[in-house]
Amino acid sequence: MAKSFSLEPKKVAPVETPNRRICTEIPVPESIPVIEKLRKFEPRSMTGQPLVVWDRAEGYNVYDKYGNKWIDFSSGVLVTNSGHANPAVKKAALAMIEHGLMHNYCFPTEIRSELVEKMVEISPDPLNKVFLLTTGSEACECAIKLSRTYGQSVGGKKKIKIITFDDDFHGRTMGSQMAGGSPASKEWIVNQDPDMNQVPFPNSFKYEWADETRDDYSDDNCFGIWMGFLEKQGITPDTIAAFMPETFQGGWAQFMPVGFAKKLRQFCDDNDILLVFDEVQAGFGRTGKLFSFQHYGINADLVCCGKGISSSLPLSAVIGRPEVMDLYGPNKMTSTHTGNPVCCAAALANIEYIFENDLIGKSAAMGEVLEKRLDKIVEKYSDYIGNCKGKGLVKAMVFVKKGTKDIAPDLAHEIVKLSIEKGLLFFAPVGAGSTIKVCPPLIITREALLEGLDILDEAIAEAILAG
Ligand SMILES: Cc1ncc(COP(=O)(O)O)c(C=O)c1O
Repeated sequence: MAKSFSLEPKKVAPVETPNRRICTEIPVPESIPVIEKLRKFEPRSMTGQPLVVWDRAEGYNVYDKYGNKWIDFSSGVLVTNSGHANPAVKKAALAMIEHGLMHNYCFPTEIRSELVEKMVEISPDPLNKVFLLTTGSEACECAIKLSRTYGQSVGGKKKIKIITFDDDFHGRTMGSQMAGGSPASKEWIVNQDPDMNQVPFPNSFKYEWADETRDDYSDDNCFGIWMGFLEKQGITPDTIAAFMPETFQGGWAQFMPVGFAKKLRQFCDDNDILLVFDEVQAGFGRTGKLFSFQHYGINADLVCCGKGISSSLPLSAVIGRPEVMDLYGPNKMTSTHTGNPVCCAAALANIEYIFENDLIGKSAAMGEVLEKRLDKIVEKYSDYIGNCKGKGLVKAMVFVKKGTKDIAPDLAHEIVKLSIEKGLLFFAPVGAGSTIKVCPPLIITREALLEGLDILDEAIAEAILAG
């Protein structure tokens, strides 16, 4: 269960480097009324994040208005791939506002045409159609609808199952939550759809059979064992419309073994099943490829995008094969804020910036720096870090109770708190509350990345000592 951070200001050592500045107690006493007002007027569920009252953010830094400055290892939950308030993105959004178009419903606009053309240009064939939406959950809901519709078109009323994975996260709206793999978070639904089913994700931290090195294709390998979970639930291929995995599982930054993904693709092809990758947090260069499913050497039928698509303003998308994307006639798939012109301008500028500045290559290169330094941290605290996975500029460390596989949410929480007191920003631990994710903007410098990792190292040592 996620914990709130304490409202009690704490005296902390001052910090002053070109990348960080801490010059007040943390949380800042003057910021407490702001937090209290939020706590009074917002639901309790909004109280989970560390108590840093953001004033502005630029590049890889977040600032409050009391003189403090953090290195951001969160990218605002994996959104700001091209950096906070990227100048090109800001200029494009401002230009659209200044020009005088801030909303257009589904009426045609030039900027929307430019964005969808660009998105098709960068997507692998035959992903040649794009539908713009607003949130990642909405994109997943749309992919679910298209998949079920497609399934029925090729296999009749029974081909409607959407198969997702234990521990998956696809959002918090009803359909996306039903597709999620956390039973506790969907208890409120009560009457859950019997045709949205979960099977284990090949997660090597949890299952021996999911060892990434076991990529052979024999029946007793990872994929063969995994098929048993479908069979156990009585799920046959003729009832499946789509598989919809997170490309890597957010709670652990765990990818599938490549051989598993290839086998899954083949299984989908053999049985007219769609393979939908939820790339909401994995896309737009985050892992050293434009889309993370490209690490598997396979293609998707539909891709759900969000977050890093604009590095800022709310925009999401489903990209897909035309025969699936075109299943609905005029005005049957709409959303009020579809392709908002300011968001489109921001997204187009963001994508151009990512390519013109090779942020995908930078993510891969900086990912190596990150991995090397994290390996040392994992080695140093091996009794407390059960797992550390990820690619490019996303890595997730799962903290455990000393020498066990039992997760340690209190330790993870303390590490985040201590890091923040030292000028390094993370979002609250994720998964079951014991995973700390390192996911800075892709424009982070090597120097700032290493500085942040030194702080993380210190914070882990202090948290263990205090524990
Ligand atoms: C993989 C994945 N899918 C979907 C979502 C939902 O996106 P949103 O919060 O924009 O609805 C998220 C958000 O964290 C995500 O990580």
